[in-house]
Amino acid sequence: MENKGGREFIWIASVVVVLAIFLGSIAYALRLGYSVASEVSVMPLEKAAGLFQPGVKDLGDGRYQVDIIAFLWGFRPARVELNNPREIILRIYSNDVIHGFQIVGTNVNVMVIPGYIATVIWRPPQNINGTLLVICNEYCGIGHSGMYMEIVIKR
Ligand code: CUA
Repeated sequence: MENKGGREFIWIASVVVVLAIFLGSIAYALRLGYSVASEVSVMPLEKAAGLFQPGVKDLGDGRYQVDIIAFLWGFRPARVELNNPREIILRIYSNDVIHGFQIVGTNVNVMVIPGYIATVIWRPPQNINGTLLVICNEYCGIGHSGMYMEIVIKR
């Protein structure tokens, strides 16, 4: 009975300790450079045809902007080659239905919603070298399972 206050303190303290560990690990991950590196901006369908041109833009200094259209059922361009990229700005657009854009084996994975540009800023680790498979991971109809593209990284 007389110990009750002490026991409650132990439980309160352990909750505080667990919370500190969780928040601390998030802060540590952010310090290491982990982040949710995606954002979405609006591009109305009627403007997209003129403003959103698929292809690779070399921004210099190892930076590339890659504009991609996801469609039923594929990606345009279907294959992209990048020379020793340091930072890749991926912008993906759909003008039909919801698609996905996942680079297999990496943490790049976004939903592509018609009328919105999904933007991911990706700094591929140095040990990534060769052909990466990109798949659609939102069910988008009969051709969904064959919807893919390739990103080739040359070191
Ligand atoms: Cu596009 Cu599934």
